Amino acid sequence: MTDRTDLAFGYSDGDVDTNASTMPSLNTLIDQRYSRRQALRSGASAAAVAVFGGGVLAACDSANADADPFPNLASVGSSGSASSGQVVTLTSSATDNGPITSSWVQTEGPAATLVGANSPNASFIAPSVSIPTVLRFQYNATDSAGQTTQGTTAVTIAPAALGFAAVAKNKNDVVTVPAGYTVSILYRKGDPLATGVAAYKNDGTDAGYSQRGGDHHDALHWYGLSAAGARSDASSARGLLVMNHENIDPQYLHPAGSTSVGGVRPEGEALIEIESHGVAVIEVVEGASRAWTYVQNSSFNRRVTPNTPTQLNGPVRGNDLVKTAFSNDGTQGRGTINNCANGTTPWATNLTCEENWAGYFRRSGDNALRTAKELTALNRYGVTSSSGNYGWSTVVPADASNTLFRKWDARATAASALGDYRNEPNQYGWVVEIDPYDRTKTPRKRTALGRLGHEGAWPGKFTAGRKPAWYMGDDSRGEYMYKFVSATAWNAADGAESVTDRLAIGDKYLDTGTLYVARFDANGTGAWLPLVFGTGPLTASNATYPFADQADVLVNARLAADAVGATPMDRPEWTAANPVTGEIYLTLTNNSAALRPLNGTNAANPRHYNDPKGSTNQFGNPNGHIVRIREAGDNTESLTFTWDIWLFGAGADLNAANINLSGLDASNDFSSPDGLWFGRSTNASGLVTPIAWLQTDDGAYTDVTNNQMLAAMPGTVGDGGARTITNTGSGGATATQATFVGKAPGTTLRRFLVGPVECEITGVDSTPDGRALFVNIQHPGEGGTSTAPTSHWPDSQATGTAGASIRPRSATIVITKNDGGVVGL
Ligand code: FEO
Ligand code: CA
Ligand code: CA
Repeated sequence: MTDRTDLAFGYSDGDVDTNASTMPSLNTLIDQRYSRRQALRSGASAAAVAVFGGGVLAACDSANADADPFPNLASVGSSGSASSGQVVTLTSSATDNGPITSSWVQTEGPAATLVGANSPNASFIAPSVSIPTVLRFQYNATDSAGQTTQGTTAVTIAPAALGFAAVAKNKNDVVTVPAGYTVSILYRKGDPLATGVAAYKNDGTDAGYSQRGGDHHDALHWYGLSAAGARSDASSARGLLVMNHENIDPQYLHPAGSTSVGGVRPEGEALIEIESHGVAVIEVVEGASRAWTYVQNSSFNRRVTPNTPTQLNGPVRGNDLVKTAFSNDGTQGRGTINNCANGTTPWATNLTCEENWAGYFRRSGDNALRTAKELTALNRYGVTSSSGNYGWSTVVPADASNTLFRKWDARATAASALGDYRNEPNQYGWVVEIDPYDRTKTPRKRTALGRLGHEGAWPGKFTAGRKPAWYMGDDSRGEYMYKFVSATAWNAADGAESVTDRLAIGDKYLDTGTLYVARFDANGTGAWLPLVFGTGPLTASNATYPFADQADVLVNARLAADAVGATPMDRPEWTAANPVTGEIYLTLTNNSAALRPLNGTNAANPRHYNDPKGSTNQFGNPNGHIVRIREAGDNTESLTFTWDIWLFGAGADLNAANINLSGLDASNDFSSPDGLWFGRSTNASGLVTPIAWLQTDDGAYTDVTNNQMLAAMPGTVGDGGARTITNTGSGGATATQATFVGKAPGTTLRRFLVGPVECEITGVDSTPDGRALFVNIQHPGEGGTSTAPTSHWPDSQATGTAGASIRPRSATIVITKNDGGVVGL
């Protein structure tokens, strides 16, 4: 509705024009007039405040006989949607006998940032509100004589809600997003990251991956840059994406797939494969028409690969367990590998997490030269391969002094660990801190966070004066959930943009603290069990594995967690923190009957059932679930928590009483949750009811749909209730299991994206304003060959098809809402 501001309300704009020297400022006038209207409205007319304007005003000065009449304001109003995060347009129509200048100012409600405030039509993104809230704006039309006519409009903003229609499941070779959204390809495998690097040919002849995009894009995170190129946490126009490159599709990296001669890998091929792993820091910018590009020649671009120098920090630094022929003092290393999910810090560094590192090492055959204790540790982590992934240690390098291939041979061969690489596997399995803003800084492995198959390391809420915590999944079947609590209470000054030595802040918070592992109890509570040498079973007299010291506990955190009685989980993947409630979510992607039989369930991993894929039975928990916890007292330092299961993955057709426990339907059924991330609290998608973005890495439901990403607005731990289900094993045997099921999501869970053929969806972050969402598409066409690729994405994105020989590439996409609003709302 439009408010009248003409003579009928008792004042004349003409008065203020008579003496320019005493004329109050425009803002003063606005304030005065606004106050007057408020006073007028406080009576019976208060109910006239309404949302969408556009009502036509009587011309305020049409009767004015002056040669220079006041602007004639025909209408003031607003159009567009009006819930948090959506774009609202303010409209006006005014005429005069000469030019008019326009200005819009907000006069009521939570602050909105006006775009085009000096135009007849301005717009803003509806701010976050928790209840319907009125925002009021005043429009001023000023003519060349300085005469102003004014009108106001009010918009009622509703709380944020999912604002898109669910995407249908599909098996197309494109990324599908809802109507009203646009997908752009931003950064692909092989893209050049430095000046002078040739464009990628994508035919297997490209090399030089230390200056190209790596393969298997995984977790990503945005770090803002100012126009001047400095850290700027609020920037949404220019920034750095820190990107994990977890693994490779070797068949597409070489002309005809990977080769070997007499069991020896060619050095050039192995170098391509090695350097396609690791981490990338790339600069990205928003250009004209909201088009995003990465900056090939940016001085920030960096590749951290399995060959990049690293250093060990924390309690394991210098311990015998990490001494190698390369680092006789156990303080240095080379590289990071199988970087999966991630974490971040308020001092703007990135945490990259080493997941399935064990398989890269050749190790079997040296049992006679290993101690019983070493063998226990090697077997517990699966360092047992007879070749190592991709056989890199077989390379005979042209430079005989080059040990970057030799280090993948972890067999004991020398007189001591100082002469070989038997301890090289102990240099991996860590959380690694990288300063995205300074590529001269050596990444630091934070050993206090334990050595696992680290999926991610996501922080809980930071509270001044309280010790912060990072929550971590160890991704293998039957592994555990962990948290690291810093020994140092949070000082918000350490998060200031003015801090220059960010890794020194990391030393302060991440090198000293306590590692805990989670026990989920049947009554819906849980406990954090400390992994501290000398306490409980973590001593030299432990029969399974005699621990020597705290470094031994951290290097062998899985053995320590076994000893204290942690709860085995169905493959712990990403952790995420709800920025409003502080609750921690953990995706549990799936489990199989072979590793978790019918009688192997527990309250937090409760299902055992069959989800047939074609004619193949899939018993166990093939579709996965997501557990969430609430720390006692909402305190990251707490030793106890409550939990329930937010969602159970399932096809919509599966039994509702015992399998499809979250009541999923065609708009939101999914399998094998993996990536999970909440919207940033700098925009409406991370406030009040934050969006949880859920990504799948599924094999169980891919007969029905490619992998997908969903958006949800979850409730809180305990919003559902206790439930007992009946499980069924492969022989028809049944067993009951009690658990705690969160409230069924209904339409607050919705499919937002379906990926191309044979991909997994992983990695998600947005600009701080939430208007650009970055998502990674990993290994499209992973099942194909060099001559018969099974996907042609991203070349297929534009039309849905591409030449039959076009090879697929992992890539980062950016998703924008066509009207400029916050993605998802
Ligand atoms: Fe690399 Fe557990 O996903
Ligand atoms: Ca005029
Ligand atoms: Ca993952």
